[in-house]
Amino acid sequence: MDAAPTPPVTLVIFGATGDLTRRLLVPAIINLTRSRLVGEDLQILGIGIEPGDDEFLRGRLDQFLSHLSGEEPRVKDEAWESLRRRISYTSGDFTKDDIFVEIGKRLGPNANAAFYLAVPPSFFGTIVEKLAAHGLTDESDGVFRRVAIEKPFGTDLASAQALNAQILAQVEESQVYRLDHFLGKETVQNLMTARFANMMIESLWNNRYIDHVQITATEIVDVGSRGKFYDATGALRDMVPNHLFQLLAMIAMEPPNSFDAEAIRNEKSKVLKALRIYTPEEAKTHGVRGAYGAGPLNGTELPAYRDTKDVSPDSRTETFVALKLYADTWRWAGVPFYLRTGKALTARDTEIVITFQPVPFAQFRETEVNSRLPPNRLVIQVQPDEGMSMEISIKSPGLSVDTVPVSLDFRYADKFDIAKTTGYESLLYDLFIGDQTLFQRADGIEAGWAAVQPFLDIWAGDQSVPDAYAPGSMGPACADELIQRDRREWHELGVLLHRNGK
Ligand code: BG6
Repeated sequence: MDAAPTPPVTLVIFGATGDLTRRLLVPAIINLTRSRLVGEDLQILGIGIEPGDDEFLRGRLDQFLSHLSGEEPRVKDEAWESLRRRISYTSGDFTKDDIFVEIGKRLGPNANAAFYLAVPPSFFGTIVEKLAAHGLTDESDGVFRRVAIEKPFGTDLASAQALNAQILAQVEESQVYRLDHFLGKETVQNLMTARFANMMIESLWNNRYIDHVQITATEIVDVGSRGKFYDATGALRDMVPNHLFQLLAMIAMEPPNSFDAEAIRNEKSKVLKALRIYTPEEAKTHGVRGAYGAGPLNGTELPAYRDTKDVSPDSRTETFVALKLYADTWRWAGVPFYLRTGKALTARDTEIVITFQPVPFAQFRETEVNSRLPPNRLVIQVQPDEGMSMEISIKSPGLSVDTVPVSLDFRYADKFDIAKTTGYESLLYDLFIGDQTLFQRADGIEAGWAAVQPFLDIWAGDQSVPDAYAPGSMGPACADELIQRDRREWHELGVLLHRNGK
């Protein structure tokens, strides 16, 4: 089914001169314009601290897009020229009233608006309060007024609850679009289809057949110039309660009774609320952390994390984390979910690995299949090389009864001509048409923070430093110990990429 064009809307971007706007939001809207999903009735009103007029913002974006065009020649084309004319700008302090009066004037009455908060999190609550105080979130005239909020949404359970309370005192949940950019990724959206459109997969999807689940999001990039943000955040906060838990929710949720946004969000929230909340003692044995040391990475000498610009030399912040979690539900009872994420590692690899139970293999007694058969595995590669791979055992050719593991591989790129996208296209499109499926609801966010809070608490009180690991490695030894204790192994990082010759 083709997607319908969006209704007329003004996208009001707070933080219009920032990196997110030029790198992701504007290129995504150009792509939507190109595919005719947004038309001439989309306006952009940029708000920033720097003084300037409409031409100021247009010029800034021009400059940035020219720079991008080196790699991607289609970025600046008629779609951009047409959008460019519909971009305006006004400057002011987000905490003062003047700017909100000005926004009101610019929008005029009866205009649909989506307010996008591409600003530091300390402004989220205040901006929503000011929007409401100036009547800008009022939908009583039949228009829509939505607020899109970037991550990080809170820094722990208490702050996430406080922020939700502050926002929901002003607007309805149906007006709030909390972003997690992982949900904009094509393969993440495919997780639900893979499960619920395939009897072969879904009928095995429970603790009778699944031994354990691994969810991985590793990166080669180091902390780089983000030292200030990262040292106050760490790998756990940065990646787990949001991105990794969104993947976990898609994998572990019960089938929704419809593809309606609320039905899906209900199921996702339910499973996140079922994540076991560890006691401090349990948290100590179910989570490990590391920080990269100095060493060669991608042909350059990387300084140790603690020697990174804007990072405290005695920082205890982790750049790698691995957890063993349980979703206490009928379906998943006893099935561990191992999660890991980190920076400066050997491969960029976001994947989900489902390892099935071993077969009873009684019929192979008296044959050469005398060692344990490798378990079946389903590997869902989210990025960078989207696809799926199913590892099964077959008989090896010849007269003897012996087996070999083989893999049935599917790569998106082999089958589809996937246009280069930013990952924000579907999120912005859904924001404009009012579909909240790919956005996080207040209860889901809080459930995620509740599950990681025990780790935050024990590490806050722990004076030891995270274990060091070598840049370009698979992570610290303590991560291997975490899983090997259970006689299991991590799936090798980047293995599908290597197989595909990348
Ligand atoms: C962001 C984190 O939310 O996600 C970054 O703050 C991380 O630290 C990024 O690098 C990963 O996203 P992606 O889409 O590059 O996998």
